[in-house]
Amino acid sequence: MLERTLHLRIDADRLTINAELERLLSSSVCADAGPVERALGYAVLGSGQRVRPILAMRVGRLLGADPSLTLRAACAVEMLHCASLIVDDLPCMDNELVRRGRPTVHREFGEPTALLGAFALVALAARVVVEQRVPDHLRERQRLFQIQLLSTLDCSGLIAGQSMDLTLSGDVREFHRIHMHELKTVPLFDLAVQAGMAYAPSDVRIDEGLRRFGREFGVAFQVADDLVDGEIDDYAVVEAQLDRARHCLVGYGEDAASVSELLDYLNARSLDHCHR
Ligand code: IPE
Ligand code: IPE
Ligand code: MG
Ligand code: MG
Repeated sequence: MLERTLHLRIDADRLTINAELERLLSSSVCADAGPVERALGYAVLGSGQRVRPILAMRVGRLLGADPSLTLRAACAVEMLHCASLIVDDLPCMDNELVRRGRPTVHREFGEPTALLGAFALVALAARVVVEQRVPDHLRERQRLFQIQLLSTLDCSGLIAGQSMDLTLSGDVREFHRIHMHELKTVPLFDLAVQAGMAYAPSDVRIDEGLRRFGREFGVAFQVADDLVDGEIDDYAVVEAQLDRARHCLVGYGEDAASVSELLDYLNARSLDHCHR
């Protein structure tokens, strides 16, 4: 019963996010859309879990941010995530054939269009953030969030992690596994928390506890994914990492219930896989 409520609440957030993504990408589904535009729609409007934007929305709610402003920032994070997936799936990267239960973008549209689509999506993510009208006192926050968004793709974060993932193998790869996750997966979770903080009232202290939570949750998300993909076989690794993330929320009490619910969601997904 509890799990059902949890899923209903997550579904409700997902619906809100999907509606805004559809709006932001409406030109990609209209009749005269070109191939790159259609590829963008295909990459973003599929059946993604939307965990990162949901995290952003929930952090925003916890901090009392205006949800309509947070929603746009949250969708920009999801667009960046979808762009990273297009690239991650390319033949020169993980060479995946299927993503979200259907052909990967390069299989559906060809490699050149997939590559152009990923570029266009990064640009769109940055643009939708700055294009949004915000009250004057939040303009500087908006600018800072756009810097954070673009920094996610600089050479020391996600890109460095993806590069490590491609170049390391065997024991060395195993030794660097957590660090690699921190680099490739955590930046988008960290960005999601920053999206939630971006438009919080200015008297809210920018909270390092929530930033820590985002990072620990990002690692948990990746190890849970590795469990489902069969790259690791020990549920205890996921459990320990979920505990580490949960610990970051201790000081927030009941207020953080909707944020910690995401840990329950991840745990339920991992256990579901173990019991299959
Ligand atoms: C896939 O992320 C990439 C990882 C970091 C494991 P998700 O599992 O969130 O993918 P979607 O968005 O639901 O398809
Ligand atoms: C994807 O990592 C991480 C990024 C795109 C930054 P993975 O290669 O482990 O994810 P999946 O298994 O393809 O979803
Ligand atoms: Mg990969
Ligand atoms: Mg991959």
